[in-house]
Amino acid sequence: MSISPEKREILSLRGVSISFRGNRVISNVSLVLHQGESLAIIGLNGSGKTSLLRSIAGILEEVSGEIRVDGRIGMVFQDPGLSLFGTTVEENLLFSLSGCEDNGEIISSKIETSLQRYSIVELRKRDILSLSGGERQRVALAAATVISPDLLLIDEPFSMLDRLEIKNMLDILHTLTERGTSIVLSTNRFSDLSVFDRFLVLGNGSMVFYGNWELLKKNREIFTLAGMPVPFELELSC
Ligand SMILES: Nc1ncnc2c1ncn2[C@@H]1O[C@H](COP(=O)(O)OP(=O)(O)OP(=O)(O)O)[C@@H](O)[C@H]1O
Ligand SMILES: [Mg+2]
Repeated sequence: MSISPEKREILSLRGVSISFRGNRVISNVSLVLHQGESLAIIGLNGSGKTSLLRSIAGILEEVSGEIRVDGRIGMVFQDPGLSLFGTTVEENLLFSLSGCEDNGEIISSKIETSLQRYSIVELRKRDILSLSGGERQRVALAAATVISPDLLLIDEPFSMLDRLEIKNMLDILHTLTERGTSIVLSTNRFSDLSVFDRFLVLGNGSMVFYGNWELLKKNREIFTLAGMPVPFELELSC
């Protein structure tokens, strides 16, 4: 995952604020993300991570400011069940591709590639409801990426995963960015963060930090100021 300013701008937010029935939960967020870059939105429960992702996906109403997305969006919701529609794993991937104009052969080959990439080949005929939380998360990610999105939005991808699965998920995300997908994910984990290109830290509904890992290292006091634990890797680094 590397930052290349000359690459295409996939996402930009300018002065974005979000309210629910007049009650403001996010104020004045601005950021830019280029092709193949990854952004981690970090914040405690209720800090507005999901709301911000939903505003980028265009599924919130009370949003002010400017949000621009250049390309196709794939989204995995915080509850992966919300991202899934069909009965079986295979049907879910098929459903994701239903808006594409590909012919049957190409659709089959995309589904096959995706089942293999996310190690869910054996699960293809299984009912979504019979899957474990981690399996469901992988299927939801497969369903969101089978359309080759330019921008992938993932809400709390690590919440149901054990340590090994978190490592696998990070590897998958890294591969996606190398293929040119931009990623915005939210997390309230405070470890395994150093791999992301940019960070947005939310505290009390505002952006308390936006920048790269080097800058975050120099500003680790912002976590304490925002009432959060300092990320594990920042505590160790000098
Ligand atoms: N549809 C809604 N109507 C009213 N308030 C809402 C709605 N959605 C979110 N909120 C409120 O907005 C605030 C931010 O919620 P959000 O879900 O974005 O936080 P979050 O950072 O994703 O939290 P978590 O880590 O628990 O997932 C919370 O106070 C929440 O209650
Ligand atoms: Mg959330």
